[in-house]
Amino acid sequence: MEYLNFPPLTQKVSRIALGTWAIGGWMWGGTKEKEAIETIHKALDLGINLLDTAPVYGFGVSEEIVGKAIKSYGKRDKIVIATKQGLSFENQKIQRDARKESIEREIEESLRRLQVDYIDIYQIHWPDPLTPASETAEALQKLFKQGKIRAIGVSNYSIEQMEEFQKTAPLHSLQSPFNLFERAIEKKELDYCLKKGIATLGYGPLCRGLLTGKIQKDTQFKGDDLRKVDPKFQEPRLSEYLNAVKKLEEWVKNKHHRSLLALAIRWVLDKGVSTALWGARKPEQLSGMETIWNWNLTSQDFSEIDTILSETILDPVGPEFMAPPPHR
Ligand SMILES: NC(=O)c1ccc[n+]([C@@H]2O[C@H](COP(=O)([O-])OP(=O)(O)OC[C@H]3O[C@@H](n4cnc5c(N)ncnc54)[C@H](OP(=O)(O)O)[C@@H]3O)[C@@H](O)[C@H]2O)c1
Repeated sequence: MEYLNFPPLTQKVSRIALGTWAIGGWMWGGTKEKEAIETIHKALDLGINLLDTAPVYGFGVSEEIVGKAIKSYGKRDKIVIATKQGLSFENQKIQRDARKESIEREIEESLRRLQVDYIDIYQIHWPDPLTPASETAEALQKLFKQGKIRAIGVSNYSIEQMEEFQKTAPLHSLQSPFNLFERAIEKKELDYCLKKGIATLGYGPLCRGLLTGKIQKDTQFKGDDLRKVDPKFQEPRLSEYLNAVKKLEEWVKNKHHRSLLALAIRWVLDKGVSTALWGARKPEQLSGMETIWNWNLTSQDFSEIDTILSETILDPVGPEFMAPPPHR
């Protein structure tokens, strides 16, 4: 495992983190608690020390499962818990809400569900255009000073939104989508964070499973699985993405003797993201992590990969379909 500093946290953070959205079940066709806890324990055994969750993931279920897993594993002080605020979900109606009262209420609910007395990284899940950035930033800074949170983060923010936020409070991390197929932050927010010393958490490194190579044209998803509506998983685009997957798989096998999954994670890390949020929900999905270490992509590799992508994906689409509506 690779680790790096994540100021102001005092411990180093693993460059692979476990993302627990799917573990909450909602939008992923359900959850299995025992398997989820085994997955979290396996991640910790493998040296992952950062667990990313959010209240909205399963409407509390993901945070509760993470809390139970940490309680039964122990070593709370060695684990970095990242959770979020800023999406309310009364009656399962999701709304952006980063107002002061909402932050003050939600932090207590997250602490209770997670069964802890502080949160390591507390992130605003989505920018709330109806609340002044100064109000949100001030409320987070208060929690930081009280010791209830140990680092202040945002998610899905633009550079302008981060700049506005930092007029009132320090900003320690940004969480954004980032993978071989979803690279909007590459020349913008990622560069900005690298220059400013703001840590980055890249979400969806496997592009919701596409970059594992297991998705086929006829793969069926169960229940409320978001991939039923994800525009990348619909034809005619799906065929373009599957063609890219096939070409990338051949390329990395021939050139580096590695799997597509190892390439997907290595690419995110070598582009400069601090940690990749791997969304596993079964222990066996974390097998083969050792193939990610002890190699790097060169600038020649990056350019060969870009050629494959530009020749195969003619009608690219981003992850915007996941954004909750900005109004209340
Ligand atoms: N801040 C935000 O707005 C935001 C948005 C999205 C995600 N996130 C965070 O980022 C994390 C990761 O994102 P993500 O879950 O969307 O995407 P991801 O990590 O790109 O993909 C997750 C999916 O890939 C499949 N998978 C994982 N490991 C696998 C393996 N070894 N072999 C085969 N398939 C495998 C699983 O699908 P199946 O289990 O269905 O097989 C899993 O549900 C989330 O859990 C969450 O913490 C944050």
